[in-house]
Amino acid sequence: MSNQPEICVVADTAAVWDEGARRFATAAQEAVAARGRFMVALSGGSTPEGLYRELATRHLASAPGKTSDALSVPWSQTHVFFGDERYVPHDDPQSNFRMAREALLDHVPIPARQVYPMPTDAADPADAAAEYEKILLQVFNTPLSCSEAPGEGQKPVLSTEYSVLSTPSPFPRFDLILLGMGPDGHTASLFPGTEAVHEQRHLVVAPWVEKFQTYRLTLTPPVLCHGRQVLFLLSGASKADTLRDVLEGPYEPSHLPSQIVRPVDGRLTWLIDRAAAARLEK
Ligand code: 6PG
Repeated sequence: MSNQPEICVVADTAAVWDEGARRFATAAQEAVAARGRFMVALSGGSTPEGLYRELATRHLASAPGKTSDALSVPWSQTHVFFGDERYVPHDDPQSNFRMAREALLDHVPIPARQVYPMPTDAADPADAAAEYEKILLQVFNTPLSCSEAPGEGQKPVLSTEYSVLSTPSPFPRFDLILLGMGPDGHTASLFPGTEAVHEQRHLVVAPWVEKFQTYRLTLTPPVLCHGRQVLFLLSGASKADTLRDVLEGPYEPSHLPSQIVRPVDGRLTWLIDRAAAARLEK
């Protein structure tokens, strides 16, 4: 059953990164205490990137004899995945993996084998999506393969109807999913008017994004909706109108894909600064 999102409004972008880093560390500690590992999906975008830099800085601050603004993240038990990826080589300036590596992963002691970039070297992006789906299933030990999920022609299970309570889930359950939101209401690489927004069977798809004239790879709504915790990170006035429409307008995910993210058994938080929250009425 989808519950109401938490709306956490902070002063500015730096406060989004600071609060985001604190929540990241808390989620990691809780996951490791409960299940022995922390499974997190990173997002692309400049707002999430700032959080990654904050995490790296706070980790360095935790070195012996350093200041008290350290954050303790159990990096050796952390597994990092990606919520979406541009279909470019991993050393391309556009790559989300390259961005996360430079901002965070090269600065913290996470074992390389526990970082799972989305593959972008297959001739057909759909093959890369299928490959990442296999990686997710292997690492999460998800009992059911995706092919055993509801087949074609069966009633599509809307994210709000999908219950992890009654049947074993065919979808991996991240401890934390970080997301940004574009001014057009997209999140991950679920863009307005694309079929990916309504994908209910696969874990990963490879949509063609007309506005960028490129393929992307993206986790699908069922995976995003199965997260234990989903944290949107937004800052800036450019998001204010869209955020009001997403949070307070009619439910139209084809037009505002961020609306499709409604965890069925998890916590949804919008961590936003005052500028992004300026048009909210409630
Ligand atoms: C990407 C992201 C995308 C991003 C939003 C917000 O690959 O670009 O996954 O969904 O999070 O566009 O980006 P900003 O925080 O830079 O506005």
